[in-house]
Amino acid sequence: MGRFDGRASIVTGGALGIGGGCARRIADDGGSVLIVDVNESAGAATAEEIRAKGGKAEFMPGNVADQLTAKDMVEKAVSSFGRLDILVQNAYSGEDNAGSAVEVEPENWHCGMNLLVGALYMGAKYAVPAMEESGADPQFAQPEWTGAGRRHGEPPAQNVGRIINMSSVHGLHAAPRSLIYNAGKAAVIGLTRQMAIDFGPLGITVNAIAPGHIVTERGNEMWNEVGNDGGFRLFELHYPVRRTGIPEDIASAVGFLCSNEASFITGQVIAVDGGMTVQLQENLVMDSKDYIVANPDLKTHFDTGRGSSRF
Ligand SMILES: NC(=O)c1ccc[n+]([C@@H]2O[C@H](COP(=O)([O-])OP(=O)(O)OC[C@H]3O[C@@H](n4cnc5c(N)ncnc54)[C@H](O)[C@@H]3O)[C@@H](O)[C@H]2O)c1
Repeated sequence: MGRFDGRASIVTGGALGIGGGCARRIADDGGSVLIVDVNESAGAATAEEIRAKGGKAEFMPGNVADQLTAKDMVEKAVSSFGRLDILVQNAYSGEDNAGSAVEVEPENWHCGMNLLVGALYMGAKYAVPAMEESGADPQFAQPEWTGAGRRHGEPPAQNVGRIINMSSVHGLHAAPRSLIYNAGKAAVIGLTRQMAIDFGPLGITVNAIAPGHIVTERGNEMWNEVGNDGGFRLFELHYPVRRTGIPEDIASAVGFLCSNEASFITGQVIAVDGGMTVQLQENLVMDSKDYIVANPDLKTHFDTGRGSSRF
C-alpha cells in the first residue's frame, strides 16, 4: 500500500521542475494529483505520463496569480477525486524581479508579491475548508497512543490536511539586488508559521521548504546556455555535499512532510540544500580562488545575463 493511497492533492506549478517531481512522487506513493500550471502542454504531458504509469492525475490550466484560480483548483480537485488532503504551493516564474528597492518598479513589486505570497494565501483560503470537509482518511485518522505516550481526553484531529509552501534559501539569506524574490520568499516563511498556528487545531500541518540550487529542466537549459561546465562545477563545490539538487530531493522532503509520520511537525522551514546555508560564508571566496585561477575561462550563469552580480 502506498503512503498516499486514498489521498488527494494539488500541486501548483506541477508541470515541470520541482513541482513535476512532487506530483510524480505523490502519484508514485498512491495519491491522486491535480497539476495546476500555466504551461498547458507540459502540464498535460506530465499528467499523462503519471496516468501511463498507473497513477491518478488530472491537469488544470491556471495562473495562480489570478485570484479565481485557487477557488477553481480546489473545486476541480474535490470534483475529480472526491476530497482534498494535500496542497503543494510551488508555482513561480521569476520574470521582472531583479533589482534593489531603488531599481524595482512598483508594478513589478505588486505582481511579484502577489505571485510569491498572495497566491499562497488564496490557496489556503479555499483548500483548508475543503480539507476540513474531507476529514482525515480513516486509515490515517489517529496515531497509535502506546507505551510512553501520555494524553488525556479524546485525541485531537490528526492528519486532516497538509500544506507545503515552497520558499527558498533566498528566504533565509539575502542575495544582492533581489528585493522581490528574497522578501517574498522570507514572507512565505512568516505566512507558513501563521498558517501552522491557525490550522494546527484542525489537524492540518503547514510547513515550508527552502530548496538550494535545484537543476530542473529549465536549470539544465540555463547551464547549457552557459556552455562551460567549469562554472557549474564551481557552483557544486560551494555545496558541502559537493552537488546541487534535483527535483527528487525536494519531492522526498515533501513526501515525508505530507506523510502520517510527520503529524507532529508544523510551522517549520526545512532547508533542502546540501548543507549550503549552514556553511560559514567568510572563507568561501578564498576557498574558490585556486579553482578560479586554474580555470580562467570558466563562465557562470551571470555571464548569460541572469542573476545579479554584486561587483
Ligand atoms: N530550482 C531552484 O533552484 C529553486 C531553488 C529555490 C526555490 N525554488 C522554488 O521552487 C519552486 C519551483 O521552482 P522550479 O525551479 O521548479 O521552477 P520551474 O520554472 O522549473 O517550474 C515552475 C513551474 O511553475 C509554472 N508556473 C510559473 N508561474 C506560474 C503561475 N503563475 N501559475 C501557475 N503555474 C506557474 C511553470 O509553468 C513551471 O511548470 C518556485 O517556487 C521556486 O521559487 C527553486
